Amino acid sequence: MYMAWNDADNVGVPELDLQHQRIFNVLLSLNANPDAATDSELVADALDELTRYGDAHFRAEEALLRAERYPHLDEQLEGHRRFRRVVAELCFATSAGAGDVPALLRTFLETWWEEHIQGADRRYAAFLRERTPAGRLPAS
Ligand SMILES: [Fe+2]
Ligand SMILES: [Fe+2]
Repeated sequence: MYMAWNDADNVGVPELDLQHQRIFNVLLSLNANPDAATDSELVADALDELTRYGDAHFRAEEALLRAERYPHLDEQLEGHRRFRRVVAELCFATSAGAGDVPALLRTFLETWWEEHIQGADRRYAAFLRERTPAGRLPAS
C-alpha cells in the first residue's frame, strides 16, 4: 500500500502534527521492512514509539480539545482508548512470541490512519479552524 504524508492530514496545531508524523513514520518503516520478525529491533522500537506516542500525543490532544470545548471529545477518548488497548495487546503478543505481530501492527496502523487521523482528527481540525480566529493559535 503506497502511503505519503498529505497536507490534508495536518490538523493545524504544530505539536500535534509532529506527533502524527511520528506515527506515520513508524508505519512507513514497517512497510519498508515487510519481513521484519516479531522479535526484531524494528518491531520493538515501533511498539515503544507507539506506547510513548499514545501517552504524549493523546494527552496533548485531549487537553487542547477540552480547553476548546470540542463537542465530540467522547469520540476522541474512545479512539485513544482503543489505540492504547491494541498497542498493549501487541506488546503482550510480542513477549509471548506470536509470529504475526508485524502484520497485525501494520494493518492496525493503516486502519488507524484512515479512521482516526483522517477521520476523527480531521473533524476536530475543521472545528478548530472554524472556531479559531485567523492569527490566533488554539489554547494549549
Ligand atoms: Fe485523536
Ligand atoms: Fe491525533
